[in-house]
Amino acid sequence: MLDIVSMTQKFHDSESVAREVIARCQTLARLSEDVGSIRRTFLSPPMRDCHREIAAWLAPLGAESSIDAVGNLHMFYPATEPDAPRLLIGSHLDTVPNAGAYDGVLGVVLGIALLAALHGRRFPFAIEVVGFSEEEGVRFATSFIGSRALVGTLDDEVLSRQDAQGISIRKAITNFGLNPAKIGQAKIGDNVLGYLEFHIEQGPVLESIGRPLGSVEAIVGQSRLEFVFTGHANHAGTTPMNLRYDSLASAAEWISTVEREAKSVSGLVATVGAIQAKPGAVNVIAGETRLTLDVRHQIDEARSTAVKKFIQEAQQIANRRGLGLEWNVKLDQPAVPMNRFLVGEVDKAIRKAGCDPHRMVSGAGHDAMILAAKVPAAMIFLRTPGGISHDPAESVAVEDVIKAIDCGLSLLDQLSSSSEFQRKKQHA
Ligand code: HGY
Ligand code: MN
Ligand code: MN
Repeated sequence: MLDIVSMTQKFHDSESVAREVIARCQTLARLSEDVGSIRRTFLSPPMRDCHREIAAWLAPLGAESSIDAVGNLHMFYPATEPDAPRLLIGSHLDTVPNAGAYDGVLGVVLGIALLAALHGRRFPFAIEVVGFSEEEGVRFATSFIGSRALVGTLDDEVLSRQDAQGISIRKAITNFGLNPAKIGQAKIGDNVLGYLEFHIEQGPVLESIGRPLGSVEAIVGQSRLEFVFTGHANHAGTTPMNLRYDSLASAAEWISTVEREAKSVSGLVATVGAIQAKPGAVNVIAGETRLTLDVRHQIDEARSTAVKKFIQEAQQIANRRGLGLEWNVKLDQPAVPMNRFLVGEVDKAIRKAGCDPHRMVSGAGHDAMILAAKVPAAMIFLRTPGGISHDPAESVAVEDVIKAIDCGLSLLDQLSSSSEFQRKKQHA
């Protein structure tokens, strides 16, 4: 048991470590495509600056860094013995537009802080901190490009998807100086014991019950679609209301039905987050309106039923108004349970950090739901003040980062002496 002086010293040490974690997230937040706000999308120039900044933090830790063929940053911390299996700790380095400084980034910076807090201590497994290159799906309307490379689900159709400038994912990879032919090498082998992701909750639950940390039992499924209503552009002043084929008015009618429907189904959330009307002039009836739809539910059948209903309603509105309608599914990600053994270990580690664990379902999607297809995965949530995320007001408390680091160190201890984990190691 530590005496009061060393406890105070330990607290001061962990407080300064936590403050450094937050400062580093703020440093990375300045590496943005936009002036005055945070936007760092797949293989954009600021992502290269981000890699460089992080690599400089690794030098004193005896960890080597490398970039794989889709721009994931890998930071490798060796085990007590060579060729040992690996434990992955990671999250994503890309952001939404006008983002906060902690979504994704905190999980990477916290992983590096854990390596630093080990002060050279090694485990029977190596630790690999991974900063994924694309989780949000902003640039190509395609989420999880980084983590999908690790589980081998990036196919030619995905790699041919284009951004608003007509650049394909494959071309963006070569433009960044990487080789798409090497994407297969990013796939993890069977020597990976598991994946842990520290992430802000991005919602109000932990704050509402006064808990610093939460353990994620499952991640809800999510569908992402694009819709295009096609009518006829025309003069806003000379076209009578009954002779219009107004794509923007049609989209508006559909958006209000989506909202009404989502409110009527328990546990369902549906969001039209982006809309683009063409030609987009004040005095022109919009001939074409393009919009996105994000639908989520913990139960896959409820989500797919809702998606089918939204598509039917869009088609009915288009037919009634004499407009065309196209739609396509950009993502159909089933809900994913986290690994029961690891969730139990997370609970134990949260208790050792002096907190009561809280089991919860994540309404946000995370790379853990992709890795879970290949390896045991678990997530540790940190409380989000005000429940605000995907916004510059996103924040995290120093004392919660301290608890998360304590929890992470306990987790590493637990996993290094766990027979369940060792059993997996023997098969590695
Ligand atoms: O959209 C999400 O759930 C996550 O922030 N990518
Ligand atoms: Mn996000
Ligand atoms: Mn995230």
